[in-house]
Amino acid sequence: MKKSWYKEMAVYQIWPRSFKDSNGDGIGDLEGIYEKLDYIKSIGVDAIWFSPLYPSPNADYGYDIADYMDINPEYGDMETFKKVLNGAHERNMKVFMDLVVNHTSTEHKWFKEACKSVDNPYHDYYIWRKGKGKDGKQPPNNWLSTFEGGAWEYVESVDEFYLHVFTKGQPDLNMDNPKVRQEVKDIMKFWLDMGVDGFREDVITYISKKEGLPNGFPIPVACGMEHYNCGPHLYEYLKEFHDDVLSKYDCFTVGEGPLITPEKVLKLVTEDDTQVLKTMFSFDHLEADCLMTDWIKKPFSLKKMKKCYQKWYDAMNGKGWHTLYLENHDHPRIIDRYGSLKYRVESGKMLATMCYLQKGTPFIYQGQEIGMTNIELHSIDEFKDMVTFNNQIMFSKFGIKGDRFVRMANKGSRENSRTPVQWDNSEYAGFSTVEPWFNLNPNYTEINVAQAEADENSILNYYRKLLKFRKEHEVAIYGDFKQYYENSNELFVYERNLDGEKVLVVCSFAEKSVHFKAPDGIDLSKGELVLNNYTINPVNHNSFVTRPYEARVYYFKEV
Ligand code: GLC
Ligand code: CA
Repeated sequence: MKKSWYKEMAVYQIWPRSFKDSNGDGIGDLEGIYEKLDYIKSIGVDAIWFSPLYPSPNADYGYDIADYMDINPEYGDMETFKKVLNGAHERNMKVFMDLVVNHTSTEHKWFKEACKSVDNPYHDYYIWRKGKGKDGKQPPNNWLSTFEGGAWEYVESVDEFYLHVFTKGQPDLNMDNPKVRQEVKDIMKFWLDMGVDGFREDVITYISKKEGLPNGFPIPVACGMEHYNCGPHLYEYLKEFHDDVLSKYDCFTVGEGPLITPEKVLKLVTEDDTQVLKTMFSFDHLEADCLMTDWIKKPFSLKKMKKCYQKWYDAMNGKGWHTLYLENHDHPRIIDRYGSLKYRVESGKMLATMCYLQKGTPFIYQGQEIGMTNIELHSIDEFKDMVTFNNQIMFSKFGIKGDRFVRMANKGSRENSRTPVQWDNSEYAGFSTVEPWFNLNPNYTEINVAQAEADENSILNYYRKLLKFRKEHEVAIYGDFKQYYENSNELFVYERNLDGEKVLVVCSFAEKSVHFKAPDGIDLSKGELVLNNYTINPVNHNSFVTRPYEARVYYFKEV
């Protein structure tokens, strides 16, 4: 496979509202990010991906965009953005923007125009249909939103319904309209010409809807999805964006789309002249403790998770590049899920080791590097996200209400990852000088960046070593991947191999001791123990007994 900077980099994701507040309004902002650029760089990452920074009424906290070519005044202005961009570049870090073009905000000027009349030039920027029923007030089909009830909203002034597969505030764009595609290309050019280095493309697999918008298979959320996830013109539109814009820049693109499979991803990322995206995020490795959604919990199955990693590796290897992540703004924190709160530090390090030494580009989400954990909220009024409120309605139909629902939300809600970053143990965690827009996790007194900086054995310092090791060893980037102990529900053991170099990764997902014996042909004493989350005496035999959530990485220069 061709070598490339984006395969060698590690990316840090910022969800700006909760990163760092600089002006004492309780909301994270660009100046706050600017202050922390040295910190971000110190983790060992090479790029920052910004969740949306654009003006937004926050129906979906920035993923409802009112202007693609400006900055949300809550976060700063274009000048401050450019300062951050330059500051990142000066530190040798790339900057990626979130490109959210499946939908806009209802506050976008295109949508406001579109609502004025059916003859308005912007009307056809969106997906409109006449209502059904005698009064014409019944939705055009049975589709349901992923986030908020039905997928259609009636607008009196045009006597039509518009489609929104997310919240009501996020009308879907009509990508079949060439003018809309031109707008998307203009947006891409605008940021790339400014010096931005690429995009994370939000629900990009949704942009082409099946002609005729047929009724969907009746499920309680996102009904109709089979008619727009990887729809008929997806490839064609992405190819147009690629050929007309992206191919002219040395830029990175990573696509996001739920329920994606390797076959579908390979259509977009295969490294030949059909390629339209550099890489994509997969989701199923984050479904090893739940059923389709984080909200429906099951006991964690290591075997299930390992199978997902193997499946993606087998499919992608030699053909396309993959991504590695454990957290983002859409999921609860990983230590609560796949690790252990009791062994927070050990399991936080082990999970990073397990994930980021596989083949793909690492993505690290703010706070993950210090081992931030889920928050416990006490009543529904403390939640902020439409998804939580939609689920409240949905699960109440199944009898899950009141405290029971709150308990469920505390485990399943993506709001767990959206609490303010814990910088130190002062009031408001050094995030702000006033009460933040969203609850701080009270554990900030112990879990915070200042503490992690001071503690040589912190998760943060481990991430630094891990990313440094990856960067300095091509075998950790480009090497082949091979698993051992595949049937173990306690150990995840794999090796990477490249040109005679080998990395052996041994991770225990168990609190109890597990006996590990080196696979045939491997002599641990010949390897250098380069990463470990416990102090270890030099090994002179080929097996050991693991401690809770132990991780060891051996490097063999010559095999
Ligand atoms: C993506 C984003 C998520 C957002 C949704 C709608 O899945 O990651 O946060 O709510 O798209 O834009
Ligand atoms: Ca602020």
